[in-house]
Amino acid sequence: MKILMVCLGNICRSPLAEGILRSKISKEHTVASAGTISFHEGEHPDKRSISTAKGHGVDISKQKAQYFEKKFFDKFDKIFCMDTKNYQDVLSLAESETQKNKVSMILEEAGNHGRAEVPDPYYGTMQDFENVYQMLDEACEIIAEKYQLR
Ligand code: 4NP
Repeated sequence: MKILMVCLGNICRSPLAEGILRSKISKEHTVASAGTISFHEGEHPDKRSISTAKGHGVDISKQKAQYFEKKFFDKFDKIFCMDTKNYQDVLSLAESETQKNKVSMILEEAGNHGRAEVPDPYYGTMQDFENVYQMLDEACEIIAEKYQLR
């Protein structure tokens, strides 16, 4: 299975989601991430995301930000978005029902109904990054089970 994690800048939340899910699943599955803005393209993840992940034994330091493009609808089976804005931005680029059906909010996918969002920690504190990590760790655990990715 090929999974894409999406946030705004692809430097804080979705790199964490990518690294966390990859750490839980077998190598036959692919995980990547992308952002809905191109501003940080080519950059490594935010230092605070790298350090938070490292504290949990997950290395995301070699990832590089990429911009979400329409071709990703065909390259990936599932596209998990961090918040409502990311979700709407990705959906607005979909050109078929098949493409739309690949897109969901990651916390809803993981059973947290009620439009739950992974909050943007960019202007926040290290505790905000840790909270994001915990949310994503729990969601990725459920996703790994649900889609039998181990
Ligand atoms: P992310 O966080 O979407 O979790 O990667 C952000 C990164 C950059 C910006 C905003 C959020 N920015 O405004 O540059």
